[in-house]
Amino acid sequence: MSETSLSALSSESRRFDPPAGLAAAANVTADAYKHAAEDRSGFWAEQAGRLTWERPWDTVLDWQPPFATWFGGGRLNVSVNCLDRHVEAGLGDRVAYHWVGEPQEDRRTITYAELLAEVSKAAHALTELGVEAGDRVCIYLPMIPEAAIAMLACARIGAAHSVVFGGFSAQALIDRITDADAKLVITSDGGYRRGAPSALKPAVDEAVAQCPSVQNVLVVRRTGQDVAWGAKDLWWHDLVDHQPSTHSPEAFDAEQPLFLLYTSGTTGKPKGILHTSGGYLTQVAWTHWAVFDLKPETDVYWCTADVGWVTGHSYTVYGPLANAATSVLYEGTPDAGGKDRWWSIVEEFKVSILYTAPTAIRTFMKWGDELPRGRDLSSLRVLGSVGEPINPEAWMWYREVIGGGRCPIVDTWWQTETGAMMIAPLPGVTSCKPGSAMGPLPGISVDVVDHDGHGVGETGGGYLTLDEPWPAMLRGIWNDEQRFRDTYWSKFAGRYFAGDGAKWDENHVLWLLGRVDDVMNISGHRISTTEVESALVSHPSVAEAAVVGAADDTTGQAIVAFVTLTAAATAQDVGEPLLKDLRDHVAKEIGPIAKPKQIVIAPELPKTRSGKIMRRLLVDIAERRELGDVTTLADPTVVSAINDTMGAAVDGR
Ligand code: PRX
Repeated sequence: MSETSLSALSSESRRFDPPAGLAAAANVTADAYKHAAEDRSGFWAEQAGRLTWERPWDTVLDWQPPFATWFGGGRLNVSVNCLDRHVEAGLGDRVAYHWVGEPQEDRRTITYAELLAEVSKAAHALTELGVEAGDRVCIYLPMIPEAAIAMLACARIGAAHSVVFGGFSAQALIDRITDADAKLVITSDGGYRRGAPSALKPAVDEAVAQCPSVQNVLVVRRTGQDVAWGAKDLWWHDLVDHQPSTHSPEAFDAEQPLFLLYTSGTTGKPKGILHTSGGYLTQVAWTHWAVFDLKPETDVYWCTADVGWVTGHSYTVYGPLANAATSVLYEGTPDAGGKDRWWSIVEEFKVSILYTAPTAIRTFMKWGDELPRGRDLSSLRVLGSVGEPINPEAWMWYREVIGGGRCPIVDTWWQTETGAMMIAPLPGVTSCKPGSAMGPLPGISVDVVDHDGHGVGETGGGYLTLDEPWPAMLRGIWNDEQRFRDTYWSKFAGRYFAGDGAKWDENHVLWLLGRVDDVMNISGHRISTTEVESALVSHPSVAEAAVVGAADDTTGQAIVAFVTLTAAATAQDVGEPLLKDLRDHVAKEIGPIAKPKQIVIAPELPKTRSGKIMRRLLVDIAERRELGDVTTLADPTVVSAINDTMGAAVDGR
């Protein structure tokens, strides 16, 4: 983020107080901050008390940096907390999910009692397939109810799930299945994307052929399209539907692994972030209730995130279900069946809490005010944002056009690694500044530090660190303790380094400034520059590649790749076909989400004398709009400009 935009942000003087009615009836008041500050572990123990434990914990926290045990000795079953206890409390008829398929009129309403029955059947099915507590199950599904059912069934029998976003390629699936040593893959024939069935199973077939750990593939029939059938394949409806609809669950240790979720780091290899049970569920349940001021009896909540990302885990599945909330689950894209599809869903289900990403908000801004204004959005009362910094303009538009000027906006900062929200306002307490996540939640401690790890004080910018453990924190990187220590705990001894820049403004309000490492944030999704570079250089025509995230009005950042070609490729006539081929190659290696928006063929890459690619210079070039649609760097003036700047940077001129 440039200095100008930074100072523009910090001088933001508008503030929006909580609506009086909401504040008067808010779930959480300002006392929570004081109470948590006085007794952090007591505060979290109180929140853990919101859950049902088969055996109470002996100790709230055992902290042996960087390893934490939360609620040690406690035993619980996560799926019981999300389902059985609500049904036992008489809430069996409450809707857990209003599922909306992409095709119009495709609807399924699932009550808590029905969800419990489905999860019970699936749990029996997994057991029949030999899945046991401690095993890993890979889930590769579209946004259909079976995604949540599969996750909860794993949780019910103590197996860890590893959900892989449906937009990832066969190769990405292979890497994740292999790293996790997954025994079972749960997938579907396909899903609906932009009006047409798109296949998922072929990628699984390709992966399973290379992953000997996989014993079975359980396939949900969603689209009815033709699928190839192998010896390990089983239809979900054949195996699951006839199972008993009741299931006696076992309680597991609070630290039983609940899931792995792979996320990009600064190397080419994704990290399997490990989350466990008791602490994770405590924090997602409490934050979901506190930050959205959830009233489960009356609210209809909609988190638009796909279950393939952490937001989908924590705030589409575990948080809302632990709180007995009624949620909307939508399969499709925002423009499927019309660019006002989302607003028609809000109108139809009277959604009262909406949680989405700045990229989506900026896209809707571009599509114009008429679409949301044409729908009745008066049911909305709290709006949430997540995944990337939200610019004040988008924040104001969200507030005015979607929220009708009456809904507080909660901008929530957190990560796959943190498991749950960490920095966010409380809608009944905080007076919000447009574009700021405001400050750490009760029970969370944040410190912004300089290069040497010294706190910057009440005002000032630096690196965001978390200096106290929190219940939903990652417990490690799967199979890679050293990387866990190196990535998060080594830069600043004893504290968690988030990889983000942050700044306290003159009112001690916190502004998140984006990543400070080589991780890009594309539409709120993390993609590492190295991963895309590795994909590009694995193409036979590419000699070298440098990838940067360049500012983009809609997606926050866009992937721009600079490549040099091999002599053989250079000798041929390059051009559109090669560029398309390179993009497709990246889609094949990683997934369509990692396709570069622009590929620049350069005669050489700007490097320092020690051979390090000068990314900052490339970001400058990528963001200098005069390059426009020109996709080659043949223009010698651009090349010499690069060289000049390079010389200046190296020589310190
Ligand atoms: O850079 C921060 C950004 O997203 C990163 C985490 O990405 P991921 O693990 O994919 O999780 C995204 C959803 C929780 C962070 O390091 N980020 C996330 N939320 C915000 C944010 N940046 C600014 N403001 C936010 N509210």
